Amino acid sequence: MSRTFSSVMVTGGAGFIGSNFIRYLLGRPDFQGMVVNYDVLTYAGNPLSLADVAQQYGDRYVFVKADICDGAAVRDTIRAHGVDCIVHFAAESHVDRSIVAPDEFIRTNIMGTYTLLQAARELGVAHFHHVSTDEVFGSLGPTGFFTEETPYAPNSPYSASKAASDHLVRAYHQTYGLPTTHSNCSNNYGPYHFPEKLIPLMILNALEGKPLPVYGNGLNIRDWLYVEDHCSAIWTIVQNAAYGSSYNVGGRNELTNIAVVTKICELIDRKVEPLASGAPRSSLITYVKDRPGHDLRYAIDCSKLERDLGWKPAHDWESGFEETVDWYLANPQWVEQVRSGAYKQWLETNYASRG
Ligand code: NAD
Ligand code: TYD
Repeated sequence: MSRTFSSVMVTGGAGFIGSNFIRYLLGRPDFQGMVVNYDVLTYAGNPLSLADVAQQYGDRYVFVKADICDGAAVRDTIRAHGVDCIVHFAAESHVDRSIVAPDEFIRTNIMGTYTLLQAARELGVAHFHHVSTDEVFGSLGPTGFFTEETPYAPNSPYSASKAASDHLVRAYHQTYGLPTTHSNCSNNYGPYHFPEKLIPLMILNALEGKPLPVYGNGLNIRDWLYVEDHCSAIWTIVQNAAYGSSYNVGGRNELTNIAVVTKICELIDRKVEPLASGAPRSSLITYVKDRPGHDLRYAIDCSKLERDLGWKPAHDWESGFEETVDWYLANPQWVEQVRSGAYKQWLETNYASRG
């Protein structure tokens, strides 16, 4: 079985993973349909991330600036563009912001997902794929992995709102027979990643000789996956997975935060001129007050996806990570654009409170 679609609506397509997904999908020879990028452009959404795609694909790419909580706009868009598949990325996605101000997370991640599901059901959209996170499973100790059967135990307002949205997707399949699939993925890295998240923040701070703020003792572990491999997993699931099923996606690539930051320092030392002081960039590492409720370890068992659907990642950490650092070095214009006044204000709020 391999499903085909003529019009795929990608919510949150101007964000980090959504923009990579649109580029990936339109670049696939087996996809000849159109893509409707439905995004309200919050601070995290950036049309510049897809400026080349808009030029290259002409009528096959449409941008609609609208809110997923706006049911009328969602319905109009589905009707106007004959949408037969929704791949739902749009969300508030940053854990630290969810701790400071949870409201928008509840609205967008829960009410927004509900609004989309309801419209998909009413208008008979053939497929709804929900993109979610491994953070819904909570925190692991030093051993073990998250499987699709791991009970949900979210610890932050972000992960709780994503958990709620996963449950709604499940309920719409079980109750109304909506043809859904959903995926829970580990931390992504790669181009177009907004620099409030660990990897791009550290790359840019290291380049500019600014402090590298590591939360707590730096020994929290994340399982890093190159963003394009997440995109290929999603498309594999959308095309082939049974309705109502969920799949975990991960990189089998567990690293402590301090290992990631140290690696960034080494790469930047190698690629650009030394700091004025002559000290290595690792001297910029600064341990700061920990994140409240900071999950210790995430690690994904993705064997169901490998076994059932034959997915495997195409990038390894060494090359994918260096390519990512090179991308930030080569794209100062993108970086400048996303670092708006609002972004600066966030940095002040978040890091001032960490001492
Ligand atoms: P992001 O913050 O970079 O992008 C989110 C996008 O959604 C932005 O373009 C924003 O403008 C848009 N958006 C936000 N609220 C909206 C609304 N109300 N209506 C329409 N558009 C809205 O996020 P990301 O890192 O690309 O994550 C995308 C999805 O993947 C999220 O659902 C997230 O939970 C999930 N996810 C992310 C990761 C990760 O490592 N980043 C890992 C697993 C799952
Ligand atoms: P982040 O990129 O925010 O992703 P998530 O919280 O969704 O996993 O953070 C990744 C890890 O890096 C997490 O353990 C928190 C840590 N971190 C820091 O140590 N310093 C920082 O400035 C940031 C933003 C994150």
